[in-house]
Amino acid sequence: MDSIEIVGGGPLVGSVPISGAKNAALPIMTAALLADGEHVFRNVPNLRDVHTMTKLLGQLGVEATYEDGQVHVTASGTIEPTAPYDLVKQMRASVLVLGPLVARCGRAIVSMPGGCAIGARPIDQHLKGLEAMGADVELHHGYVEVNVPGGRLKGSDVTLDFPTHTGTENLMCAAVLAKGRTTLTNCAREPEVEELARVLNKMGARIEGAGTSVISIEGVDSLNPVDHAIIPDRIEAGTFMVAAAATRGDLLLEGIGFEPLEAVIAKLREAGSTIEREGDGIRVVGSEVIRPTDIITQPHPGFPTDMQAQLMMLMCLANGTSRITETVFENRFMHVSELNRMGADIQVHGRTATVHGVSRLEGAEVMATDLRASASLVLAGLVAEGTTQVRRVYHLDRGYEHIEEKLAPLGANITRVTGNA
Ligand code: UD1
Repeated sequence: MDSIEIVGGGPLVGSVPISGAKNAALPIMTAALLADGEHVFRNVPNLRDVHTMTKLLGQLGVEATYEDGQVHVTASGTIEPTAPYDLVKQMRASVLVLGPLVARCGRAIVSMPGGCAIGARPIDQHLKGLEAMGADVELHHGYVEVNVPGGRLKGSDVTLDFPTHTGTENLMCAAVLAKGRTTLTNCAREPEVEELARVLNKMGARIEGAGTSVISIEGVDSLNPVDHAIIPDRIEAGTFMVAAAATRGDLLLEGIGFEPLEAVIAKLREAGSTIEREGDGIRVVGSEVIRPTDIITQPHPGFPTDMQAQLMMLMCLANGTSRITETVFENRFMHVSELNRMGADIQVHGRTATVHGVSRLEGAEVMATDLRASASLVLAGLVAEGTTQVRRVYHLDRGYEHIEEKLAPLGANITRVTGNA
C-alpha cells in the first residue's frame, strides 16, 4: 500500500492546472446508460473512482474505457441491470447507476451501500422518488430491487426531505425518459448537478431549473449520445487554495472561476488570504497572520462538507479560536485525532470542533479513513516541522489526480513511497 512522505517547508509558489471534477464525471458516465451509441467524455480525471465506474459499467454489459483523460462509453445492446456488492462497497457513488438503469431497463438490482467512514448515508430519498414515479421497490439480501410495472416510469412531483446530491442526480436521470412531467423540489444545487443537467439536455432531455431547488423535467422518448468536456473540480481547487494559505504561498489555479467556490473564498478571505481572478483562473496569496474563522458546513451554496477537513487544518495555524460545525455528515471528524497527533489543539463536542490555533505543527506518521481527511493531512505535512508520512493513500487517489506530482513543482518536498504497509 502506498504512502506519501512530506518534509514541511516554505511557501508554495507557481501555477497548477485544475483537473476535471470527479463528482461531475461519475454521474455523467452513468447517464451514458440512457442512450444507445458512443459517448465521449473529455477532461475526465485519472482517479480510482473513475476506474471503478468504468469497471461497474463493464459489469452491466456496457463498453467503457478510460484513456488520457477521455472516457468512451457505448451502451448499445443488452444491459444487465445489476450493480454487485463488491463494486458498490468500493465506491458509494456506484448507486448513481440506479436512476439510469431504472429509466433504461425498467428494472435494477443494486447493492445497498453500507455505512461508510463518514456516516450512515442511507438512500431512502432516492428510493422514495422512484416509488413516486411508479416503481416498486423491495429490499432483499442487501440489494435494492426496483421494478417498473409496464417498463416506463411516470412523471411525478417529488419533494426531497434533504437536498441530497446523488439523490437529485439519480432522480433527474430517472425522470428524463419518464412519461410526462416530473417536478423535483428541495433539490441539491451543486454545480455538478447543473453540469449533469447540461449533459442530459445536450443528449435531448428537457430539464429546467437545475442549479435551483426546483427542477422540472419533461420526459422524452429517447436520447442521443454526446461528446462533452467535464467542468473543473472545485474541491481540488479549494484544496490548493488552502495549500497557498497555509504555506503563506502564492498560487495560480488554472482553469477555474470564482462561482463554484464563493463560500470557500469568503472564508479564506476572512482568514487573511488575498484571492483575485487572474486570466481564466484564480490567484491565492496567503497572509503571514492567519485569522480564526467559524465555519458551518451546508449543502451548496453553503460551505461544502468536502472542504471542512482542509479548512480545519488551516484553522490549526490561526492566531485564535475557530468553531467548525459539520451539519451534512454525522461522523466527519476523523482527521481531528490525527491533526492533534501533529500538535494541533482541537476538541470535538457533538457536531462542533473547537480549534485553538497553535504556532507550529510537527511531522508524524498519520493515517486517514476518508478522502478529504487524507487531503487535510497532506496539507498539514506541507507546513509541519520535519517529516510527515500519510498512510492509506488509496483514499487520496480516489479524489486527487497525482497530488504529489502537482505539489512538487510548486516547491513541496513530497514523494510517494510505493508498496509499504
Ligand atoms: C455527494 C458527494 C460527496 C459530498 C456530498 C455532500 C458525489 C459522488 N459525492 O455525496 O462528495 O460529500 O454529496 O456534499 O457527488 N441522505 C439521506 N437519505 C438519502 C440521501 C442522503 O439521509 O437518501 C443524507 C446522508 O446520509 C447525508 C446527507 O443526506 O447525511 C448528504 O448526503 P448526500 O447529499 O446524498 O451525499 P452524496 O450524494 O452521497
